[in-house]
Amino acid sequence: MTAIPCSSPTTDGADPGTHVALRLTGVSLWRWDAEAQRERFLLRDVDWTVRAGEQWAVLGANGAGKSTLVSIAAAMTHPSSGSAEVLGERIGGVDLRELRKRIGHVEARTARAVSGRLTALEVVLTGASATIALRRQALGEDDRRRAAELLERFGCGELATRTFDSCSQGERQRLLLARALMRRPPLLLLDEPTTGLDLPGREALLAAVASIAAEEPEAATVTVTHHVEELPPTTTHALLLRDGVVVASGPADAVIESAALSTCFDTPVRVDRLDGRWLARAGAAW
Ligand SMILES: Nc1ncnc2c1ncn2[C@@H]1O[C@H](COP(=O)(O)OP(=O)(O)OP(=O)(O)O)[C@@H](O)[C@H]1O
Ligand SMILES: [Mg+2]
Repeated sequence: MTAIPCSSPTTDGADPGTHVALRLTGVSLWRWDAEAQRERFLLRDVDWTVRAGEQWAVLGANGAGKSTLVSIAAAMTHPSSGSAEVLGERIGGVDLRELRKRIGHVEARTARAVSGRLTALEVVLTGASATIALRRQALGEDDRRRAAELLERFGCGELATRTFDSCSQGERQRLLLARALMRRPPLLLLDEPTTGLDLPGREALLAAVASIAAEEPEAATVTVTHHVEELPPTTTHALLLRDGVVVASGPADAVIESAALSTCFDTPVRVDRLDGRWLARAGAAW
């Protein structure tokens, strides 16, 4: 297993020797709202620590600030105030392009950016250079072996020579997940990875995400979603956001529950568990 180049072991009560993949301290982010003629907070005073091997869920309503939070974790956005440390590097103090190469990030924009003319295997191989373009001359035998393994692991072996354009949305999402894992990133960020997938497609994607816990046990993952049904059973922790503010954060069992989700979504929510997965219903129906 690849060693994780993160910061030093924790001293804040977690298991000694567990490295910190991401630590936000007092992070706020604001933008100028021209209409209101004042700053508007997208995130306010967020504290969040993600350690190696943890699988986090980030939940919240539309506009809660989930993607904004993940874009800071992805070293794409600077906080307006507070400190963000990603894989041991302080955002603002390092070359972010180098840091980004160590982070796996799957979001809607990734699918749009990849050339549909590349084959499924080539799409996965682009992850070796952490670029959208395929750099054939830079690829080694290890890269090709790793890509073939990931295709098989995510049930995409038979797609290898198919163009990305011809793959279904669910297949494309699994290919992008495989692509993000090519460099064995110690931090993997998945922003709504199951949006638009049908039930089998969603389950296949979740199985792929769940396999990360077993196959890359030192990787920290963050999965953003609106729906607890779209969380893999391997989820260990959760952070709930409402209007840019953290409503709850901590072990999944304690956080993904009715009262906290009701506060998060500002409506009565009932949460049940079935076979390790979560189910939620909102409103008066229950
Ligand atoms: N560059 C920006 N300038 C101003 N406002 C922004 C900017 N980026 C995002 N916002 C606003 O910040 C809020 C949070 O956006 P964000 O995309 O993080 O929400 P989200 O929780 O990911 O929502 P969704 O579930 O719809 O994806 C939204 O109201 C959005 O309109
Ligand atoms: Mg979003």
